[in-house]
Amino acid sequence: MLNIAVVGAGSWGKNLVRNFASLPHAALYCVCDKDAERLKATAAAYPQARTTSDLDDVLSDGKVDAVVIATDAKFHYEHAGAALRAGKHVYVEKPMCQRVDEAEKLVESANSGDRKLMVGHLLLYHPAVTRLKGMVDSGELGEIYYMYTQRLNLGVVRSNENAWWSLAPHDISVVNFLFGDTPERVSAQGQCYLQDGIEDVVFATLYFGDGRMAQIHTSWLDPHKMRRMTIVGSQKMVTFDDMEAAEKVKVYDKGATPNLSYSSYGEAITLRQGDIYIPRISTAEPLKLECEHFVRCILEDEPATSDAENGLNVVRVLEAGRRSIAGGGRPEEV
Ligand SMILES: NC(=O)c1ccc[n+]([C@@H]2O[C@H](COP(=O)([O-])OP(=O)(O)OC[C@H]3O[C@@H](n4cnc5c(N)ncnc54)[C@H](O)[C@@H]3O)[C@@H](O)[C@H]2O)c1
Repeated sequence: MLNIAVVGAGSWGKNLVRNFASLPHAALYCVCDKDAERLKATAAAYPQARTTSDLDDVLSDGKVDAVVIATDAKFHYEHAGAALRAGKHVYVEKPMCQRVDEAEKLVESANSGDRKLMVGHLLLYHPAVTRLKGMVDSGELGEIYYMYTQRLNLGVVRSNENAWWSLAPHDISVVNFLFGDTPERVSAQGQCYLQDGIEDVVFATLYFGDGRMAQIHTSWLDPHKMRRMTIVGSQKMVTFDDMEAAEKVKVYDKGATPNLSYSSYGEAITLRQGDIYIPRISTAEPLKLECEHFVRCILEDEPATSDAENGLNVVRVLEAGRRSIAGGGRPEEV
């Protein structure tokens, strides 16, 4: 049994509390939050867990094996670093932290202390993304040309971070995962409409060394609620729509093939308009799968899918995007 302490039982952290409390090989040992009301509500729902408002109290407790951090992103570096120095395994919510140099220090700290450091890139544990990864890696889609993602909503307007830092970590982590690579350059443009200095909408393009491209559109100021990805390959195209209750993934047997021995203009490219099929996708809760993965990685000493390096690479893209937005969309090296 692994003793888990969750730090930050806010609107997202309470989901982590619920999941860690339900796992067979983990115990929700402790919950820590500075907010007395949130702590009281957690204590009432999970009487088995001890509660505290003091992070040091958690870190000095020898019975705590792993710390799960769901505080505001601006504290991730400080809290994750302190937990690693205290010898704890760490799960930290996305983004891993807010600067590349800090992310590098966290990677170094986890490696030198031989501790697991996993980042909450939730979508990497989504059964639909697991399915997409299988399609990409097996060659079913052919050569991957490009993909684009839309993470849009009207709501949850944050004042502590912009739409890029708040929403794009999900998309960047999936793009890197599916492409098996990190982009070389990012070009991003954003605008602030509701609050000074905080972009409500960001359009970003990620350029990979081999010509593949990914476009990420994030916004909390949009009439549509969309959680959608489209991948275009030479053989097939696929969409993942997380707002769909059941038919989340659709595979389009569509493609366009250049015809090298054409005799007339109309024959230069052959279009294929085949069937559309909808694979069955497990309805398992991605967050539960992610929490199980963290516990298994520690108990069985497995590498995490969203390990510290993975978190660092996402922060690299986020930071390049920040520079690009500041430069009006000028492409920035990752
Ligand atoms: N993976 C996902 O899909 C997903 C979704 C939403 C949010 N998140 C991430 O989760 C994190 C938390 O987001 P949220 O919306 O729950 O924020 P929130 O503000 O609702 O909750 C943060 C909590 O941390 C507590 N806290 C802050 N400093 C603390 C300290 N030193 N010690 C103890 N408690 C402290 C606050 O009191 C608060 O209750 C963010 O990093 C966010 O990006 C992830």
